[in-house]
Amino acid sequence: MDIRNRTVLIIGGTSGIGLGLARRFAAAGSTVIVGGRDTSKVDDLETVRIDVTDAESVNRARDEVLQVHPDLDVLVTMSGVLLMEDLRDPAHFATAETTIAVNLVGTIRAIDAFTPHLIARGGASGGASGGADIITVSSGIGFLPFPLMPSYGASKAGVHAYTEALRPQLAGTGVTVTELVPPAVATAGQEKVNPAALPLDAYLDEVIGLLTQTPTPNEIVVQAAERLRWAERDGTYADLLAARAQSLATLPGR
Ligand SMILES: NC(=O)c1ccc[n+]([C@@H]2O[C@H](COP(=O)([O-])OP(=O)(O)OC[C@H]3O[C@@H](n4cnc5c(N)ncnc54)[C@H](OP(=O)(O)O)[C@@H]3O)[C@@H](O)[C@H]2O)c1
Repeated sequence: MDIRNRTVLIIGGTSGIGLGLARRFAAAGSTVIVGGRDTSKVDDLETVRIDVTDAESVNRARDEVLQVHPDLDVLVTMSGVLLMEDLRDPAHFATAETTIAVNLVGTIRAIDAFTPHLIARGGASGGASGGADIITVSSGIGFLPFPLMPSYGASKAGVHAYTEALRPQLAGTGVTVTELVPPAVATAGQEKVNPAALPLDAYLDEVIGLLTQTPTPNEIVVQAAERLRWAERDGTYADLLAARAQSLATLPGR
């Protein structure tokens, strides 16, 4: 995809990977708006307040953005929470609900809000190489669970499956659907719990390299994500899952 002359909304772009990606799009020449609940974290880009768990907030943000930017042609659904759960403690359920509400239902709600507009934009390009783009965000954990984050993995496997259905549903409309599959990236405190987390800039360098290929790959899987994405195919799944289950020893009482 061309990242130089686009109008991009990154929902979940007020910090971390989303903010980093927003700055890459802006540096390449695109107009970028970032969304989140706390827009005070960003002072170098246009922002919009949005809570993806709230339909009214999503529709209001959509209307606000499209009023100023009727040429919006890229939507990135980056909002996500990464939460640990102890499934032996029924109190985990609130965490499960929040995780699914933000990561999965929030993604679906955000896409729904913008799909009619993006289809109109995609069609406006006459099917030329421009068109419109939706970029969803799953995770390596959606393909190889991390047992400390059960609902997180479920939400991201859900985002993957949803994206796989969205792509053929939008085929022929001029809207391209791409899935970002990040490995551990050093944001949101990841660097403290996972010394192997990729530095954000190194991750974004690889992402931009893959994203700007023609045609855009359906999935943006950087090198560090490949062993997670393809564990099942490669026959390494059971061993890797068992190794990752060691992390459960960090839960209180284990
Ligand atoms: N970092 C990793 O290792 C990693 C690995 C795989 C996948 N991912 C995925 O990458 C995405 C970005 O993660 P990150 O590491 O960059 O974390 P982050 O810095 O915590 O970013 C999360 C973003 O989601 C937004 N958000 C959270 N709840 C929201 C809500 N209810 N409504 C709207 N926005 C909301 C946050 O903004 P506000 O707080 O302002 O609302 C923030 O902009 C997530 O989907 C995450 O699951 C991350």
